[in-house]
Amino acid sequence: MPDANIQNESSNPSKAIAKSYGHNIETDLALEFVRVVENAAIESARTMGMGDSPLSDKVAVESMRATMDTVPMHGTIVIGEGERDEAPMLYIGERVGAEFPDGMHVPEVDIAVDPLEGTNLCATGAPGSITVLAASEHGGLLHAPDCYMQKIVVGPACKGAVDIDAPVSDNLKKIAKRLDRDVEDLVIVVLDRPRHAQLIADIRAAGARIKLIQDGDLSAGIAAAVLGTGVHAVMGSGGAPEGVITAAALRCLNGYMQGRLLINTPELEERIASMGIKDKNKIYEAEELAPGKQLIFAATGVTDGALLKGVRYFGEGVRTSSIVVTLNTGKVRFIESIHLDKYADVKVRF
Ligand code: FBP
Repeated sequence: MPDANIQNESSNPSKAIAKSYGHNIETDLALEFVRVVENAAIESARTMGMGDSPLSDKVAVESMRATMDTVPMHGTIVIGEGERDEAPMLYIGERVGAEFPDGMHVPEVDIAVDPLEGTNLCATGAPGSITVLAASEHGGLLHAPDCYMQKIVVGPACKGAVDIDAPVSDNLKKIAKRLDRDVEDLVIVVLDRPRHAQLIADIRAAGARIKLIQDGDLSAGIAAAVLGTGVHAVMGSGGAPEGVITAAALRCLNGYMQGRLLINTPELEERIASMGIKDKNKIYEAEELAPGKQLIFAATGVTDGALLKGVRYFGEGVRTSSIVVTLNTGKVRFIESIHLDKYADVKVRF
């Protein structure tokens, strides 16, 4: 006579799947999160070039939210679209994940999202926009306020070689030495902003090459951690939430970063005090921004970038390029997916 429970589970696939999930977030959920970023990229890339940034962002958010609710997890958004009263979806503190009957064993997960990094890039068809998220066990991602963060991001070869407070020319010399090349051979990515005028002048004076970007210091940071992308470092200030997601990726890719929150209003002072941060000038490394014992970072290209190709629509489906990395499992997956339309004589091209 078959065991009643087994019979019960096999007649209820979702129950069987949910029960088999333990607390290994990385192995259980990495590929689930790829679906989340892929779907958001497919939707937002449809708005490429429409010149409507809010629309591009909206469709990415809605898609990400909808797919998250098919993932077997108890998820909490810790970095998202804003506070509850200012964002209808993916707001800080929002619970996401598929519903399972009481007693089902699904992991608790903290999630940091940037549903569309580079909304303006997507809206204008410029390179470098991505859909992106990081996930960890509860407490594994700093709940960074929505402020700027001064950052320096480098790859594994330059671990510990840079100091955010050192003169720019010293950092460049150290990066060049670690990469076994001249300063003149370096490419440093900097957001093209008036606030970076001095930084840009210093990099130029030191002789390094600069890639000025309109948006997207998160995806640039990931590129800096991967050999062969032609990006050797990212310097300057960008979003602090983006800094936390970058840190999660860098921990998985063995890169290195330092970041300092730029706290310049009484509201921000209050916010960090409520987070228990006593020293507003504290310099964070990736391990403090994303301290998780288990981490997942996933991103899909929306428009072409240094690391990921953008979404390509063709007659019979859609093609996406994604990366998913985890902290412990030693897997860096570049995933090229073809999402086929459903009709009988569909053809797949290599
Ligand atoms: P979005 O994701 O909102 O499009 O932000 C893009 C971005 O360029 C980030 O990559 C960067 O960290 C931040 O904005 C810089 O902020 P600002 O545009 O205020 O300089």
